[in-house]
Amino acid sequence: MILRNQFLAHVAQTSPSPMLVEVARAEGSFFYTPEGKRYFDLVAGVSVSNVGHANPAVVRAVQEQAARYMHVMVYGELVETPQVEYAAKIASLLPAPLESVYFVNSGAEAVEGALKLAKRYTGRTELISMRRAYHGSTHGAMSVMGAPEGEEWKGAFRPLLPDVQAVTFNDFADLERITRRTACVLAEPVQGEAGVRPPHPGYLEALRRRCDEVGALLIFDEIQTGMGRTGELFAMLKYGVTPDIVCLAKAFGGGMPLGAFVSSHRIMDTLQENPVLGHITTFGGHPVCCAAGLAALNYLLDNRVVETVEAKGALYESLLAGHPAVREIRRSGLLLAVELGEPAKLYRIMELFKEAGILSDWFLFCDTAFRISPPLTISDGEVRESAAIILDCLNRL
Ligand SMILES: Cc1ncc(COP(=O)(O)O)c(C=O)c1O
Repeated sequence: MILRNQFLAHVAQTSPSPMLVEVARAEGSFFYTPEGKRYFDLVAGVSVSNVGHANPAVVRAVQEQAARYMHVMVYGELVETPQVEYAAKIASLLPAPLESVYFVNSGAEAVEGALKLAKRYTGRTELISMRRAYHGSTHGAMSVMGAPEGEEWKGAFRPLLPDVQAVTFNDFADLERITRRTACVLAEPVQGEAGVRPPHPGYLEALRRRCDEVGALLIFDEIQTGMGRTGELFAMLKYGVTPDIVCLAKAFGGGMPLGAFVSSHRIMDTLQENPVLGHITTFGGHPVCCAAGLAALNYLLDNRVVETVEAKGALYESLLAGHPAVREIRRSGLLLAVELGEPAKLYRIMELFKEAGILSDWFLFCDTAFRISPPLTISDGEVRESAAIILDCLNRL
């Protein structure tokens, strides 16, 4: 209680209604309160803890790197082993020509860097994003938050970046609005905060073609979809469309704060000159965060975790889809939106979940569906057990 009061008094709040559950420790698919109450973590820190909480391989990497060295010098000057090894590994797993990794600290910063790079490379100013897209809360990232739905959040912070347009995700005709004025188009290959909206067949290919026709760069925001969430290591591999720049964060740091934007040398190298130091960061690519991210990625690969994602997502879907309160399930791998159809039902189910020891969440641009995005390491047994608790809560709606 004392800690909770201090939290409310001194830790700045993002809303008047934080979850207020106290965390004592976390392990695998669970976290525990000081009273020993267990919660199924079906959010994974919003698609962060893909390898499970307190994964021993990641903990070991963090401890060893922290003891070796932490921050030494601003990003991009010294040769630091964890950074180099992680960049080389990521480049080897992304399709060509995505080979040059610019490390930053967060998702929003990855987006900021990618937008600046697109303007710098093309010499153009128009930025196009998707309606109901979320890319972060800094001024640039907020500027490309989907319009008009983002207005509820953006309005109070204007003026934001000029020359920003929004097109509708999955609307083929809208692609005509991408023109020779356009520096870049920014898209999540599967929209997350819109309430999990996968691309329609052929849409990402058509988007790629249109960008090529007019010389605009295509940027994929894989901050939520990357690192195995959709059942492939990156959603771009699932859909077979390669962007000019990809933004990574969240699970990319293995539970530590880390982001990156990745591109070809041809594009990325333009950030080196005119002006020099046009984009710089002190902590970007922190050695401990890179060591954690690399350990998490190696864990995913060595244990073939990503190969299990689609089946576990499908298992959740099959267990929940038949319930009369469930209108629809939208899904890509282990990113699920369970549609209840009404905000009031969503509020009620969140209360029931909290009592029953389930951590879920809603989506920024969809207040009628709840999220299931557990650690990718969740076992089939844990999927069944958590689905049974969810069904019990749905029965009590
Ligand atoms: C698709 C997407 N892009 C960007 C971000 C912003 O990342 P961060 O909170 O690390 O700035 C998020 C965060 O939820 C996201 O889901």
